[in-house]
Amino acid sequence: MIQRPLGKSGLTVSALGFGAGPVGSEALSDADAEALLHGVLDAGITLIDTAPSYGVSEERIGRFLGSRRREFVLSTKCGYGVPGVEDWTPECITRGVDLALQRLRTDVLDVLHFHSCPPDVLHRPGLIEALTRAVEAGKVRAAAYSGDNAGLDAALETGAFAVVQTSVNLFDQRSLDHGVAKAQERGVGVIAKRPLANAPWRFPGRPYAHDVGEYWERMQRMALQTDGLDWPELALRFTAFAPGVATCIVGTTRLDNLRANARTLEQGPLPEPTVQAIRDAFRRHDTGWDGVI
Ligand SMILES: NC(=O)c1ccc[n+]([C@@H]2O[C@H](COP(=O)([O-])OP(=O)(O)OC[C@H]3O[C@@H](n4cnc5c(N)ncnc54)[C@H](OP(=O)(O)O)[C@@H]3O)[C@@H](O)[C@H]2O)c1
Repeated sequence: MIQRPLGKSGLTVSALGFGAGPVGSEALSDADAEALLHGVLDAGITLIDTAPSYGVSEERIGRFLGSRRREFVLSTKCGYGVPGVEDWTPECITRGVDLALQRLRTDVLDVLHFHSCPPDVLHRPGLIEALTRAVEAGKVRAAAYSGDNAGLDAALETGAFAVVQTSVNLFDQRSLDHGVAKAQERGVGVIAKRPLANAPWRFPGRPYAHDVGEYWERMQRMALQTDGLDWPELALRFTAFAPGVATCIVGTTRLDNLRANARTLEQGPLPEPTVQAIRDAFRRHDTGWDGVI
Protein backbone atom coordinates (compact mmCIF):
# COMPACT_ATOMS: atom_id res chain seq x y z
CA MET A 1 0.00 0.00 0.00
CA ILE A 2 1.36 3.42 -0.98
CA GLN A 3 2.05 5.63 2.04
CA ARG A 4 2.19 9.42 1.70
CA PRO A 5 2.79 12.44 3.93
CA LEU A 6 -0.43 14.21 4.86
CA GLY A 7 0.85 17.63 3.85
CA LYS A 8 3.17 19.06 6.47
CA SER A 9 1.10 17.73 9.36
CA GLY A 10 3.82 15.25 10.31
CA LEU A 11 1.37 12.37 9.75
CA THR A 12 1.80 9.65 7.12
CA VAL A 13 -1.25 7.93 5.64
CA SER A 14 -2.04 5.19 3.13
CA ALA A 15 -3.18 6.47 -0.28
CA LEU A 16 -6.39 4.49 0.27
CA GLY A 17 -8.09 5.42 3.53
CA PHE A 18 -11.26 4.04 5.06
CA GLY A 19 -14.42 6.14 5.39
CA ALA A 20 -16.06 4.68 8.46
CA GLY A 21 -19.52 6.18 7.84
CA PRO A 22 -21.10 2.79 7.08
CA VAL A 23 -19.58 1.26 10.25
CA GLY A 24 -21.98 3.42 12.25
CA SER A 25 -25.11 1.82 10.86
CA GLU A 26 -27.05 -0.41 13.26
CA ALA A 27 -27.99 -2.46 10.17
CA LEU A 28 -24.41 -3.77 10.30
CA SER A 29 -24.02 -6.24 13.17
CA ASP A 30 -21.32 -5.75 15.80
CA ALA A 31 -19.59 -8.91 14.58
CA ASP A 32 -19.55 -7.72 10.96
CA ALA A 33 -18.36 -4.25 11.98
CA GLU A 34 -15.54 -5.78 14.00
CA ALA A 35 -14.46 -8.04 11.12
CA LEU A 36 -14.63 -5.11 8.69
CA LEU A 37 -12.50 -2.84 10.89
CA HIS A 38 -9.83 -5.50 11.40
CA GLY A 39 -9.96 -6.21 7.65
CA VAL A 40 -9.24 -2.53 6.98
CA LEU A 41 -5.99 -2.63 8.97
CA ASP A 42 -5.05 -6.06 7.64
CA ALA A 43 -5.34 -4.67 4.09
CA GLY A 44 -2.62 -2.13 4.90
CA ILE A 45 -4.93 0.87 5.27
CA THR A 46 -3.56 3.28 7.88
CA LEU A 47 -6.19 6.05 7.89
CA ILE A 48 -9.68 5.67 9.35
CA ASP A 49 -12.10 8.61 9.14
CA THR A 50 -15.19 8.87 11.28
CA ALA A 51 -17.50 11.50 12.85
CA PRO A 52 -19.90 11.89 15.79
CA SER A 53 -22.79 12.01 13.30
CA TYR A 54 -21.99 8.55 11.87
CA GLY A 55 -24.20 6.58 14.29
CA VAL A 56 -22.12 4.21 16.42
CA SER A 57 -19.02 4.47 14.20
CA GLU A 58 -16.73 6.21 16.72
CA GLU A 59 -17.85 3.96 19.54
CA ARG A 60 -17.23 0.81 17.49
CA ILE A 61 -13.78 1.95 16.35
CA GLY A 62 -12.86 2.55 20.00
CA ARG A 63 -14.26 -0.79 21.12
CA PHE A 64 -12.94 -2.98 18.32
CA LEU A 65 -9.64 -1.33 17.41
CA GLY A 66 -8.52 -0.04 20.81
CA SER A 67 -5.82 -2.70 21.01
CA ARG A 68 -4.51 -1.77 17.53
CA ARG A 69 -4.63 2.00 18.01
CA ARG A 70 -0.96 2.49 17.13
CA GLU A 71 -1.48 0.95 13.69
CA PHE A 72 -3.58 3.76 12.20
CA VAL A 73 -4.13 7.48 11.89
CA LEU A 74 -7.47 8.29 13.47
CA SER A 75 -9.51 11.11 11.96
CA THR A 76 -12.79 12.42 13.34
CA LYS A 77 -14.86 15.61 13.41
CA CYS A 78 -16.49 18.09 15.78
CA GLY A 79 -18.64 21.19 16.06
CA TYR A 80 -21.99 19.72 17.09
CA GLY A 81 -23.73 17.07 19.14
CA VAL A 82 -22.47 17.84 22.67
CA PRO A 83 -25.46 17.41 25.02
CA GLY A 84 -26.56 20.69 26.61
CA VAL A 85 -24.08 22.80 24.61
CA GLU A 86 -24.87 25.02 21.64
CA ASP A 87 -23.31 23.80 18.37
CA TRP A 88 -20.34 25.71 16.95
CA THR A 89 -19.30 27.37 20.19
CA PRO A 90 -15.83 27.20 21.76
CA GLU A 91 -17.26 25.08 24.59
CA CYS A 92 -18.73 22.66 22.06
CA ILE A 93 -15.27 22.18 20.51
CA THR A 94 -13.47 21.78 23.82
CA ARG A 95 -16.01 19.34 25.29
CA GLY A 96 -16.41 17.63 21.91
CA VAL A 97 -12.71 16.75 21.94
CA ASP A 98 -12.98 15.10 25.35
CA LEU A 99 -16.13 13.18 24.37
CA ALA A 100 -14.50 11.95 21.16
CA LEU A 101 -11.43 10.79 23.10
CA GLN A 102 -13.72 8.80 25.40
CA ARG A 103 -15.83 7.25 22.63
CA LEU A 104 -12.74 6.36 20.62
CA ARG A 105 -10.90 5.05 23.71
CA THR A 106 -7.71 6.91 22.91
CA ASP A 107 -5.58 9.69 24.39
CA VAL A 108 -5.05 11.53 21.11
CA LEU A 109 -7.08 12.31 17.96
CA ASP A 110 -4.63 12.40 15.05
CA VAL A 111 -6.88 14.56 12.86
CA LEU A 112 -9.86 16.57 14.12
CA HIS A 113 -12.03 18.36 11.55
CA PHE A 114 -14.55 21.13 11.88
CA HIS A 115 -17.36 19.16 10.20
CA SER A 116 -18.98 21.21 7.40
CA CYS A 117 -18.60 24.46 9.32
CA PRO A 118 -20.26 27.29 7.31
CA PRO A 119 -17.85 30.13 6.36
CA ASP A 120 -19.59 32.80 8.49
CA VAL A 121 -19.56 30.51 11.55
CA LEU A 122 -15.86 29.75 11.11
CA HIS A 123 -14.96 33.27 12.24
CA ARG A 124 -16.99 33.17 15.47
CA PRO A 125 -14.82 34.47 18.30
CA GLY A 126 -12.87 31.76 20.06
CA LEU A 127 -13.90 28.88 17.78
CA ILE A 128 -10.63 28.23 15.96
CA GLU A 129 -8.74 29.09 19.14
CA ALA A 130 -10.55 26.26 20.97
CA LEU A 131 -9.29 23.80 18.36
CA THR A 132 -5.77 25.26 18.50
CA ARG A 133 -5.78 24.86 22.31
CA ALA A 134 -6.67 21.18 21.92
CA VAL A 135 -3.63 20.78 19.65
CA GLU A 136 -1.43 22.63 22.14
CA ALA A 137 -2.73 20.40 24.93
CA GLY A 138 -1.64 17.31 22.97
CA LYS A 139 -5.20 16.00 22.59
CA VAL A 140 -5.22 16.57 18.80
CA ARG A 141 -2.30 16.23 16.39
CA ALA A 142 -3.65 18.04 13.31
CA ALA A 143 -6.37 20.71 13.23
CA ALA A 144 -8.49 20.10 10.14
CA TYR A 145 -11.46 21.43 8.19
CA SER A 146 -13.96 19.30 6.30
CA GLY A 147 -16.08 21.02 3.68
CA ASP A 148 -16.35 22.34 0.16
CA ASN A 149 -16.63 25.45 -1.99
CA ALA A 150 -16.65 28.81 -0.13
CA GLY A 151 -16.27 27.08 3.24
CA LEU A 152 -13.09 25.36 2.12
CA ASP A 153 -11.68 28.61 0.68
CA ALA A 154 -12.44 30.46 3.91
CA ALA A 155 -10.83 27.72 6.00
CA LEU A 156 -7.66 27.76 3.91
CA GLU A 157 -7.45 31.56 4.22
CA THR A 158 -7.31 31.32 8.04
CA GLY A 159 -4.01 29.39 7.88
CA ALA A 160 -5.18 27.52 11.01
CA PHE A 161 -5.66 24.08 9.49
CA ALA A 162 -2.95 21.51 8.74
CA VAL A 163 -5.36 19.18 6.91
CA VAL A 164 -8.55 19.60 4.85
CA GLN A 165 -11.14 17.07 3.69
CA THR A 166 -13.13 17.78 0.55
CA SER A 167 -15.02 16.00 -2.26
CA VAL A 168 -12.89 14.93 -5.24
CA ASN A 169 -14.06 12.46 -7.86
CA LEU A 170 -14.89 11.99 -11.56
CA PHE A 171 -18.03 14.09 -11.17
CA ASP A 172 -16.78 16.58 -8.57
CA GLN A 173 -13.63 18.26 -9.86
CA ARG A 174 -13.93 21.98 -9.10
CA SER A 175 -11.90 21.56 -5.91
CA LEU A 176 -8.92 20.36 -7.97
CA ASP A 177 -8.48 23.83 -9.51
CA HIS A 178 -9.30 25.68 -6.29
CA GLY A 179 -9.13 24.30 -2.75
CA VAL A 180 -6.92 21.29 -3.46
CA ALA A 181 -4.46 23.33 -5.52
CA LYS A 182 -4.32 26.02 -2.83
CA ALA A 183 -3.86 23.43 -0.09
CA GLN A 184 -1.02 21.79 -1.99
CA GLU A 185 0.70 25.15 -2.46
CA ARG A 186 0.55 25.76 1.30
CA GLY A 187 1.56 22.29 2.46
CA VAL A 188 -1.93 21.50 3.81
CA GLY A 189 -2.73 17.77 3.64
CA VAL A 190 -5.76 16.81 1.51
CA ILE A 191 -8.12 13.94 2.30
CA ALA A 192 -10.43 13.31 -0.68
CA LYS A 193 -13.93 12.31 0.43
CA ARG A 194 -16.57 10.64 -1.80
CA PRO A 195 -13.75 9.32 -4.05
CA LEU A 196 -16.13 6.95 -5.88
CA ALA A 197 -18.80 9.64 -6.21
CA ASN A 198 -21.00 7.28 -4.17
CA ALA A 199 -20.86 4.81 -7.08
CA PRO A 200 -23.77 6.24 -9.18
CA TRP A 201 -23.22 3.70 -11.99
CA ARG A 202 -25.07 1.15 -9.80
CA PHE A 203 -28.41 2.82 -10.51
CA PRO A 204 -30.42 2.48 -13.74
CA GLY A 205 -32.37 5.69 -12.95
CA ARG A 206 -31.70 8.79 -10.84
CA PRO A 207 -31.48 7.69 -7.18
CA TYR A 208 -33.51 9.63 -4.65
CA ALA A 209 -30.66 10.59 -2.28
CA HIS A 210 -29.45 14.11 -3.13
CA ASP A 211 -25.69 13.35 -3.21
CA VAL A 212 -25.64 10.24 -5.37
CA GLY A 213 -28.61 11.65 -7.35
CA GLU A 214 -26.56 14.74 -8.24
CA TYR A 215 -23.57 12.61 -9.22
CA TRP A 216 -25.81 10.30 -11.29
CA GLU A 217 -27.07 13.34 -13.21
CA ARG A 218 -23.53 14.59 -13.87
CA MET A 219 -22.45 11.11 -14.96
CA GLN A 220 -25.19 11.05 -17.64
CA ARG A 221 -24.17 14.48 -18.89
CA MET A 222 -20.45 13.77 -19.04
CA ALA A 223 -20.91 10.38 -20.81
CA LEU A 224 -17.31 9.34 -20.08
CA GLN A 225 -15.58 6.53 -21.95
CA THR A 226 -14.15 4.07 -19.42
CA ASP A 227 -11.39 2.85 -21.78
CA GLY A 228 -12.01 -0.79 -20.86
CA LEU A 229 -11.71 -0.19 -17.09
CA ASP A 230 -14.54 -0.84 -14.69
CA TRP A 231 -16.09 2.18 -13.00
CA PRO A 232 -14.61 1.71 -9.50
CA GLU A 233 -11.15 1.40 -11.02
CA LEU A 234 -11.52 4.48 -13.22
CA ALA A 235 -12.93 6.49 -10.31
CA LEU A 236 -10.42 5.45 -7.69
CA ARG A 237 -7.31 5.82 -9.82
CA PHE A 238 -8.51 9.26 -10.94
CA THR A 239 -8.99 10.51 -7.37
CA ALA A 240 -6.10 8.80 -5.58
CA PHE A 241 -3.52 10.10 -8.04
CA ALA A 242 -4.98 13.59 -8.58
CA PRO A 243 -2.32 16.25 -7.91
CA GLY A 244 -2.47 17.44 -4.31
CA VAL A 245 -4.54 14.53 -2.97
CA ALA A 246 -2.71 12.66 -0.19
CA THR A 247 -5.36 10.03 0.47
CA CYS A 248 -8.92 9.15 -0.44
CA ILE A 249 -11.41 7.62 1.96
CA VAL A 250 -13.73 5.04 0.44
CA GLY A 251 -16.79 4.05 2.44
CA THR A 252 -17.78 0.40 2.23
CA THR A 253 -19.30 -2.35 4.33
CA ARG A 254 -17.80 -5.05 2.11
CA LEU A 255 -14.36 -6.53 2.61
CA ASP A 256 -14.26 -7.80 -0.98
CA ASN A 257 -14.78 -4.25 -2.28
CA LEU A 258 -12.20 -2.93 0.16
CA ARG A 259 -9.59 -5.43 -0.99
CA ALA A 260 -10.44 -4.81 -4.66
CA ASN A 261 -9.92 -1.08 -4.04
CA ALA A 262 -6.51 -1.77 -2.47
CA ARG A 263 -5.51 -3.85 -5.51
CA THR A 264 -6.76 -1.11 -7.85
CA LEU A 265 -4.36 1.42 -6.38
CA GLU A 266 -1.47 -0.89 -7.22
CA GLN A 267 -2.25 -0.15 -10.89
CA GLY A 268 -1.01 3.41 -10.36
CA PRO A 269 -2.26 6.57 -12.06
CA LEU A 270 -4.54 6.45 -15.12
CA PRO A 271 -2.84 7.15 -18.45
CA GLU A 272 -2.47 10.92 -18.94
CA PRO A 273 -4.80 11.09 -22.01
CA THR A 274 -7.54 9.39 -19.95
CA VAL A 275 -7.10 11.90 -17.12
CA GLN A 276 -7.21 14.80 -19.60
CA ALA A 277 -10.40 13.43 -21.21
CA ILE A 278 -12.04 13.23 -17.77
CA ARG A 279 -10.91 16.76 -16.86
CA ASP A 280 -12.11 18.13 -20.22
CA ALA A 281 -15.51 16.43 -19.96
CA PHE A 282 -16.07 17.97 -16.53
CA ARG A 283 -15.07 21.48 -17.67
CA ARG A 284 -17.27 21.23 -20.79
CA HIS A 285 -20.38 20.26 -18.86
CA ASP A 286 -19.80 22.13 -15.58
CA THR A 287 -22.83 24.36 -15.18
CA GLY A 288 -22.43 25.39 -11.56
CA TRP A 289 -21.28 21.96 -10.44
CA ASP A 290 -20.20 22.92 -6.94
CA GLY A 291 -18.58 20.42 -4.61
CA VAL A 292 -21.13 18.09 -3.01
CA ILE A 293 -20.84 18.58 0.74
N1 LIG B 1 -16.98 15.27 5.84
C1 LIG B 1 -18.11 15.05 5.25
O1 LIG B 1 -19.02 15.86 5.28
C2 LIG B 1 -18.25 13.77 4.49
C3 LIG B 1 -19.30 13.61 3.56
C4 LIG B 1 -19.33 12.41 2.85
C5 LIG B 1 -18.39 11.45 3.07
N2 LIG B 1 -17.41 11.64 4.01
C6 LIG B 1 -16.37 10.61 4.30
O2 LIG B 1 -15.98 10.01 3.09
C7 LIG B 1 -16.23 8.59 3.16
C8 LIG B 1 -16.56 8.08 1.79
O3 LIG B 1 -17.67 8.74 1.25
P1 LIG B 1 -18.95 7.97 0.79
O4 LIG B 1 -19.05 6.65 1.49
O5 LIG B 1 -20.08 8.93 0.92
O6 LIG B 1 -18.70 7.80 -0.77
P2 LIG B 1 -17.77 6.85 -1.69
O7 LIG B 1 -16.65 6.31 -0.92
O8 LIG B 1 -17.50 7.64 -2.91
O9 LIG B 1 -18.77 5.69 -2.13
C9 LIG B 1 -19.17 4.73 -1.25
C10 LIG B 1 -20.01 3.72 -2.00
O10 LIG B 1 -19.18 3.03 -2.93
C11 LIG B 1 -19.43 1.64 -2.86
N3 LIG B 1 -18.16 0.95 -3.17
C12 LIG B 1 -16.99 0.97 -2.49
N4 LIG B 1 -16.06 0.22 -3.12
C13 LIG B 1 -16.66 -0.28 -4.23
C14 LIG B 1 -16.22 -1.13 -5.28
N5 LIG B 1 -14.97 -1.62 -5.34
N6 LIG B 1 -17.13 -1.45 -6.24
C15 LIG B 1 -18.37 -0.96 -6.21
N7 LIG B 1 -18.86 -0.16 -5.24
C16 LIG B 1 -18.00 0.18 -4.26
C17 LIG B 1 -19.90 1.38 -1.45
O11 LIG B 1 -20.83 0.30 -1.45
P3 LIG B 1 -20.51 -1.10 -0.67
O12 LIG B 1 -20.72 -0.82 0.79
O13 LIG B 1 -21.48 -2.02 -1.29
O14 LIG B 1 -19.07 -1.43 -1.00
C18 LIG B 1 -20.60 2.69 -1.06
O15 LIG B 1 -21.98 2.62 -1.33
C19 LIG B 1 -17.34 8.47 4.22
O16 LIG B 1 -17.44 7.19 4.79
C20 LIG B 1 -16.86 9.51 5.21
O17 LIG B 1 -15.80 9.01 6.01
C21 LIG B 1 -17.32 12.79 4.70
